[in-house]
Amino acid sequence: MTPATAKRPIVLSGIQPSGQLLISHYVGAMRNWVAMQESHDSLFMLVDLHAITVRQNPVEFRARCYDFVALYLACGLDPKKNTIFVQSHVSAHAQLGWLLNCYAHMGELERMTQFKDKSSRPGAAITVGLFDYPVLMAADILLYQATHVPVGADQKQHLELTRDLAARFNHIYGAVFTIPEPFIPETGARIMSLQDPTKKMSKSDPSEGSFVGLLDEPKTILKKFKRAVTDSDTDIRFDGENKPGVSNLLTLLSIFSGESIPALESRLSGQGYGTLKVQTAEAVIAFLEPIQAQFRALRTDEAALDQILADGAAKARARAEPTLQRAFEVHGFLPRR
Ligand code: TRP
Repeated sequence: MTPATAKRPIVLSGIQPSGQLLISHYVGAMRNWVAMQESHDSLFMLVDLHAITVRQNPVEFRARCYDFVALYLACGLDPKKNTIFVQSHVSAHAQLGWLLNCYAHMGELERMTQFKDKSSRPGAAITVGLFDYPVLMAADILLYQATHVPVGADQKQHLELTRDLAARFNHIYGAVFTIPEPFIPETGARIMSLQDPTKKMSKSDPSEGSFVGLLDEPKTILKKFKRAVTDSDTDIRFDGENKPGVSNLLTLLSIFSGESIPALESRLSGQGYGTLKVQTAEAVIAFLEPIQAQFRALRTDEAALDQILADGAAKARARAEPTLQRAFEVHGFLPRR
């Protein structure tokens, strides 16, 4: 048995403080985290060390890190039920990252599709950090003996690498690391772009109308939904393949209003896309209103956020330390007395 499977499953995830948080992040990630903190031993990180693999403006970066933390909390992540912290506050991540570098092969990192993508963009600065990104991610996960790692499809390959590195290390030194499982969020919850519903909603989309931010104002949200791309038909019915735009709106309306998709199909039957768009916008606005109010209250008190993060980092450090020490020890490093 691997070290941590006897207790509550340990779930760990992270989001990079880049761009802005969208309703698709809420649906695909934060909503699940809020549910999981009840049943799992959960750790949620803001991965600031990963974020500097692309150049950041320090002033904006710091403000954005506070924004993200305040939003996590406003969405219902509760530091009494989980461990919420900033990656750079726990030096064990960089330390284990170094050890794992000595087990990762150039070839396997060169095969990472995210690296290939990012490094092939015109004018991209291909830093060692960008190349090494997945090894630091492996350290994030393995330090805490995480059993479950909820990630989007784009991170599956990185998780596979984490598993390979852990297995390679354990093969040499015994059961130092738990081999983590990917956690696949329920299907049907993939939120698509409002402008091109065949692509997933993304904060890096150049068209602002394609995504809805958790902090967007009500009138902006209404405008974005009114302009959402649907199809030339008039039928309000869920059919992801032939009616991706309408299906995306139904998915969102269902999630944010709590009404099931079949119930919506019959209630809205014959009503036209205009009604569907406005009702979806209104459901999203109503859902976000208390979150935005909570966000504004939390965001004004940076000292209180610092305190929450200090507590989170202290908990995280205490948990990471035994694994880090074990990983040092097995190499024969001299004991620190
Ligand atoms: N690479 C992840 C992403 O871009 C973020 C991340 C960093 C992460 N470390 C992690 C996710 C550890 C899960 C676990 O989405």
